[in-house]
Amino acid sequence: MGHIWLIGMMGSGKSTIGRLVADRLRRPFYDTDELVEEAGDVSISEIFAEEGESGFRVREKRIVQDVASRPPGIVATGGGIILDSGNVATMRRSGRIVLLAVDVETLKRRLGHGGDRPLLAAEKDERLDTIASERRDHYRSSADVIVDATDSVDAVVAAVEAACNES
Ligand code: S3P
Repeated sequence: MGHIWLIGMMGSGKSTIGRLVADRLRRPFYDTDELVEEAGDVSISEIFAEEGESGFRVREKRIVQDVASRPPGIVATGGGIILDSGNVATMRRSGRIVLLAVDVETLKRRLGHGGDRPLLAAEKDERLDTIASERRDHYRSSADVIVDATDSVDAVVAAVEAACNES
């Protein structure tokens, strides 16, 4: 039994779904964004402001390696985790990668003003279009399993659980 790594765009529901699945299966839950913030005692917005996206990616990669060696659980990742092929290799080695796939119009509605996400700080809808199309192939080629995450929370939780049972 390995980790279940949830990947997908900002707003695809990785943290919400991950927590629910972990509760139901009584497995640990990890959230890479939260762990990045805890490790540095600094918020993601501050990291982007002070070190840029590249500084954030270095910290994020360290967390992926750290989580990979922890007891098997459900991991909610940051949306850009798949941009680094080393991260994808680490995730694959330590478990299964499950993509929460959501169409971009749904993401725009869900994300409102973008929340506390530096990459969506300006022109949120345009940025989401660009990021979604740039990353589409990355997400699909990285995933072992693709779950339609526009469905109800219950249906998505059940689909992820099924993926866990096969792992
Ligand atoms: C990012 C997504 C964010 C966070 C950071 C960068 C991205 O996480 O890691 O703001 O590049 O898509 P969520 O996907 O949890 O919003």
